[in-house]
Amino acid sequence: GPLNETSLPLYFGWFLFSSVQDKVGCTAMDFLKTLDTLEGFKKHITDFTGQAEKEVDLEQYFETKGILHCTTKFCDYGKADGASEYAKNPVIKKSYSSVFELSLTALFVTPRTVGARVSLTDEQLKLWPADTEKESEADVPGSASLPVGSRAHVTLGCAKDVEPVQTGLDLLQILTLPQGEVVEEMKLGSLQYYGEGRWMLSLREPICAATCFSSFYG
Ligand code: A2P
Repeated sequence: GPLNETSLPLYFGWFLFSSVQDKVGCTAMDFLKTLDTLEGFKKHITDFTGQAEKEVDLEQYFETKGILHCTTKFCDYGKADGASEYAKNPVIKKSYSSVFELSLTALFVTPRTVGARVSLTDEQLKLWPADTEKESEADVPGSASLPVGSRAHVTLGCAKDVEPVQTGLDLLQILTLPQGEVVEEMKLGSLQYYGEGRWMLSLREPICAATCFSSFYG
């Protein structure tokens, strides 16, 4: 009935503990601070500015968006396809409010978004809707052929007038491309360029992030 429908959240996801939010936020900021000073990045500055010779301060370029989390299912208060089925799934109910350790294995940047890639374990994949990547095919051709869980990420920031939903699409797009060109070995890992302002840093040491599986109502 209507009461049931209104009880569905905006989304389900893994929410980073606040100490971890600080750590991940600082790591991302350090990365952005370094990235925009690299010659390899400056060479492609027009991807971000539209103009050569212009500089960009990536720390200012992106705006942060609320509490850091990895969305599993966007429910849109029940309006999204499969929302109530997801909420009713016994695995979801059983895991609700449990602690999970997510592994953040890469940071990526595009002219639209900055995010962290999440590599899910088999146990965590049980909370991941199996059709996510297939449903992304319309937005990002090639997504349907990627392994289930490829879209898993934490949105760290968005450019002006960009919605956070874009972060997952940007990640999928990078993953459908051939391996990027390694531009620099950074302290955190190796930095690859995928053209059109798309950058990915594979972390030498993945960040282990303590999270709570829960939902957000807004
Ligand atoms: P993300 O998971 O990439 O951060 P909003 O504030 O725009 O309503 O979004 C709330 C959360 O739900 C954000 O975390 C956002 O993106 C995610 N989200 C929004 N729309 C979608 C969608 N259509 N599919 C998947 N996730 C979405």
